[in-house]
Order: sequence, then structure tokens, then C-alpha cells
Amino acid sequence: MPIIIANWKSNKNYEGVENWMERFGELAMAEGIGESVKVVIAPSYCHLDVVSKKIAGIDNEKVALATQDLSQFSAGSYTGAVSGVNLDSFHVKYSILGHSERRRYFHETDAEVAMKVDQAINNGIIPVVCVDDEYVESQAMSIESEYLGKCIVAYEPLSAIGSGKNENVGKVKEVVEKIKSFFGDVPVIYGGSVNDMNVAEYLLVCDGVLVGSASLDCDSFWRIVNNI
Ligand code: PGA
Repeated sequence: MPIIIANWKSNKNYEGVENWMERFGELAMAEGIGESVKVVIAPSYCHLDVVSKKIAGIDNEKVALATQDLSQFSAGSYTGAVSGVNLDSFHVKYSILGHSERRRYFHETDAEVAMKVDQAINNGIIPVVCVDDEYVESQAMSIESEYLGKCIVAYEPLSAIGSGKNENVGKVKEVVEKIKSFFGDVPVIYGGSVNDMNVAEYLLVCDGVLVGSASLDCDSFWRIVNNI
């Protein structure tokens, strides 16, 4: 079942989130969410509560909640961090970990991402580990071997993120195989300028997509979900 993740990054205020969720609820009610798709929404931490409640009013089976990050530490004296324990009551199913923007602007390393994978798994959250081609191997090597098979891996080529220059499908296929050679037979998704026009071709070679820009407008995201 393809997994379609909306990553809102640090966009949207409370009202914008409410409006998006209301519109999504209307569309889901009017047109239904296809049998064969799993939708995941990743708002910023401060909107987890409202999104979690709205999801409960739509369909908990077909729509799930994700965070865009997770602390590499357990609960404790780590000011500003959000630990697995903090997320306890929000029904968070996935955490996007090691996104290239986290690596670039917050200097996250493979080792830190591996610690976050530990935290996610130990808190019952499925890690969505983001990698580019060059560090598939080093990232896999840093993760505890028994945890590799519990990850979803997102292939996110830097040049394709937010640029409108989505990656060639042949290249995606190649990197999906590389990822599976290091992580095992895990679900692999693609992210980078995915929209309703190109989503179908990626789903021929991988198990889902991570959508940034085209997820900000609910109707645009719905067209992606609906095109599957
Ligand atoms: P984009 O972002 O869809 O805007 O390219 C994708 C991502 O960052 O995962």
C-alpha cells in the first residue's frame, strides 16, 4: 500500500492548519480515500494536537500522524528537545528523521540520526529515515543492525527538493535497489518535487512519496492522493 506523506516543514499557523484539515475532511468525506493508499501528515510539533484530533474525526485507519523530527535523547534535561515521551498521547505513528534540511541547517550527522532511530523504535514510532545517494551506506552502517529492517527509507536527492526538478525515475529505481541492499527489504519512498502530474511514475518503482511544497495546499495534495 503506497504511503503518501505530507511534510509541511515550518509552514502554517494554527488557523492554516485547521483550514487544511477541514478541507481534507470534506474531500475525504465527498470522494473517499482510496483503499490502496495510506496518508500521513507531518505538521510542526505545536500543531500535533489539533491534527491528531482532526485525524481521529476523519479516519484513523487511512490517515496517520508523523513528526518531522525526534530528539535523539530520552526524556530528561534537554531544553528545547521533543522526546518520545512528550509525544505519548498524540498517536504519532511515524517520525521523519535526518531530512536533508535537518542535516544542512541543524548539522545533524548519521550518528545522531541513528540515535533518533533508536528513540523512535523504543517509543513505538516507525522511523522514516531520509537519505541521499551519497550517504545511503554510511547512514545504514550507523544504525543498529536489528533496527534497519524496522525503518522506512526516503530517498531524497538534494537537487530535487523544493526545486521543481524532480529526479529521473530510472535513477530513483537504481537508488531504491541500493537502499534495499543496505537496509534489507524495507519500504522505500521518494521525495523531491513530487506533484499530481509525476506521482504515478514514482509509485511504479517505490513504495510511496514524501511531498513538501505540493502538500501545503490541501487541494493540490488531494490531487496527489487521488491520482493513485
Ligand atoms: P518538495 O519537498 O516536495 O518541496 O520538493 C520534499 C521534501 O523535502 O521532502
